Amino acid sequence: MSYNIAIDGPAGAGKSTIAKRIAREKQFIYVDTGAMYRAMGLYFLRNGIDASDMGRISEKCMEADITIAYENGEQVVFLNGENVNGLIRTEEVGNMTSAISVNPDVRKKLVELQQRLAKNSDVVMDGRDIGTCVLPDADVKVYLTAGSNVRARRRYEELAAKGESCDLAQIEKDIIERDERDMNREVSPLRQAEDAVFLDSSDMSVDEVVEKILSLCK
Ligand code: DC
Repeated sequence: MSYNIAIDGPAGAGKSTIAKRIAREKQFIYVDTGAMYRAMGLYFLRNGIDASDMGRISEKCMEADITIAYENGEQVVFLNGENVNGLIRTEEVGNMTSAISVNPDVRKKLVELQQRLAKNSDVVMDGRDIGTCVLPDADVKVYLTAGSNVRARRRYEELAAKGESCDLAQIEKDIIERDERDMNREVSPLRQAEDAVFLDSSDMSVDEVVEKILSLCK
């Protein structure tokens, strides 16, 4: 049986930083599900498909083949065979992704891929619905959050470090909007699983959060 750790939470809570560290410590595979949804979002942006056209999104998502592989321990996402890792971290793709991830056909396709990965390997998987839908029997479940101002500041610093021009107030506005959409959608909304441990990282260091989760695994 594989060992599964599920980490859910809103945008910018630090899920990927924490999940990567845990994966390294435990020699598990890190599965970034947001990157899979982002690759799908990129596909719709490239094809000029309207995010509100549900029928077309259901139909076209069948043509987007999303796969992942690991190169030097890093997850690489492929969209129809193309490595799109360097293209999916923009705010434009993030906003499109949040809009199209409400589509049940998009979710069904990606959830199947995620469940297959977790069945075959020990994983740390992060996303929005991992503890509630994707891996309801995960060994450890964490709901990781932080105040929207803290999350906006982290996102701002991440984008600025990559040289992307950005505006802190706009990022916080986008984060609040995205939370609203992710938490209130009909299919698999972001919420804390009943058996998940709640962690607010606003005043915690990365090391403290990592230590806390490792202690939950013992
Ligand atoms: O974690 P992220 O910012 O890379 O995620 C981008 C979007 O993808 C997010 O707004 C909601 C969606 N998403 C989802 O619906 N379910 C997941 N398991 C992961 C991400």
